[in-house]
Amino acid sequence: MTLIVLNFKTYRESTGEAAVRLAEICEDVSRQYSVEIVVAAQAADIHAICQAVKIPVFAQHVDGVGFGGFTGHVTATSLKEAGARGTLINHSERRLRLAEIEASLSACKSLGLSTIVCTNNVATTRAAAALEPDFVAVEPPELIGSGIPVSKADPDVVRESVRAVKNIAPQVRVLCGAGISRGEDLSAALELGSEGVLLASGIIKARDPGKALEDLVTGARK
Ligand code: G3P
Repeated sequence: MTLIVLNFKTYRESTGEAAVRLAEICEDVSRQYSVEIVVAAQAADIHAICQAVKIPVFAQHVDGVGFGGFTGHVTATSLKEAGARGTLINHSERRLRLAEIEASLSACKSLGLSTIVCTNNVATTRAAAALEPDFVAVEPPELIGSGIPVSKADPDVVRESVRAVKNIAPQVRVLCGAGISRGEDLSAALELGSEGVLLASGIIKARDPGKALEDLVTGARK
């Protein structure tokens, strides 16, 4: 089943109460079109969103630390207890070192949280696949927020990431992201072998995010 992950980032339109409303819109579209939509929210918004919707709520980042003296860190346990079902790790806007990615992954795995490790090219996709997260999401940083879809501007990075992951850890699912906003971008991403998309501004900054999400889902079905 195609997966759509809407990354709320720290946009005004997806922070606090607005984050809850946007998650409700995502849930409506998910139900209406039977499509799997995950929202990746700011840590402080996760609990409130989870009270309001049943679709999976992910975090945008987790640290690989446990209980103790780790001021300012985000633990996997706190995310789980807030209701999160998974998290992004190593997003381009929240990069980690390889050892930190591994620590974050093992903290999530020990608690049964799903993991999406973001990568910026085929080489980092290979490294991420070797760590066996649930998903790798390849996103060329220069296309993020550009409105130029990765699935059209750089199809090779998606195609080659899919091939690399299938050789290294075939059970790992591949997503792609950056500049995705329309149904045809999603269709192109699926044709390249990815199993879904990670997206943000095209929906969140749209005049009518619900309509934009609906267009994305229905446009890809044609
Ligand atoms: O995490 C998704 C993101 O980085 C892509 O952003 O705004 O290009 O859809 P955007």
